Amino acid sequence: MQQTWTGGDLEFSCCTEDDLPDIARMLSKESVCRWLIFGLNTEEATRSYFLPLIEEIQAALAEKRRPDLHVFTVRLKRSGEFVGQCALLPAEFSPGTFLIGYQLDDRYWRRGYGTLACSFLVYFAFIVLGCHRLNGDTVAGNTASRRVMERCGFTLEGIQRQYWQFGREYHDRLIFGLLASDLTPERRSALREMFTP
Ligand SMILES: CC(C)(COP(=O)(O)OP(=O)(O)OC[C@H]1O[C@@H](n2cnc3c(N)ncnc32)[C@H](O)[C@@H]1OP(=O)(O)O)[C@@H](O)C(=O)NCCC(=O)NCCS
Repeated sequence: MQQTWTGGDLEFSCCTEDDLPDIARMLSKESVCRWLIFGLNTEEATRSYFLPLIEEIQAALAEKRRPDLHVFTVRLKRSGEFVGQCALLPAEFSPGTFLIGYQLDDRYWRRGYGTLACSFLVYFAFIVLGCHRLNGDTVAGNTASRRVMERCGFTLEGIQRQYWQFGREYHDRLIFGLLASDLTPERRSALREMFTP
């Protein structure tokens, strides 16, 4: 099975153990983890969360099976520099549905890469995997993440009030969704052109 795709300036590849030091460095930054329910992380915490996922993905690839979950490392195409990661995690009891996730190193914010990474997930989910639905969620104050999903065509489907606690404060959770049937034929062909296998 193919393990690397490119789009714009970026390269997306199936996450391997070699990516863990870069991922751990990113997830030890306060800026990156401000709105993440699983941050700030020590290197050990990052390793123990991601290693089993990586092993599952690599085992599936070695057996030429499609993995049940997809964690991608995002790098600059021209230099291989680490930009961040994005993922599709299966939704429980909902075959064909995945939860999206993305986090980029703060050095690369506000260049359109968040939107490109989320577009890649949309491409991968609907065009490569042929899935039915994508779920997305974010803390109400995370304007960048909200805009990324809006720019990628997700619909705001609901708000769960005071759902997450950060420090002493409770924050609303915004719930987004994108259905395969939301993608127009034009959007599908634009995605196919954007990302080269
Ligand atoms: C969310 C994230 C991936 C966005 O990445 P990015 O590369 O900066 O996003 P883009 O450059 O594609 O910008 C997308 C939109 O967000 C806006 N934006 C980006 N950073 C912003 C910020 N700090 N505050 C407000 N808006 C912001 C951009 O202006 C753009 O909106 P526009 O279309 O109205 O101009 C990045 O901020 C990140 O990794 N954050 C930390 C991890 C995280 O919160 N992940 C999401 C968890 S749900």
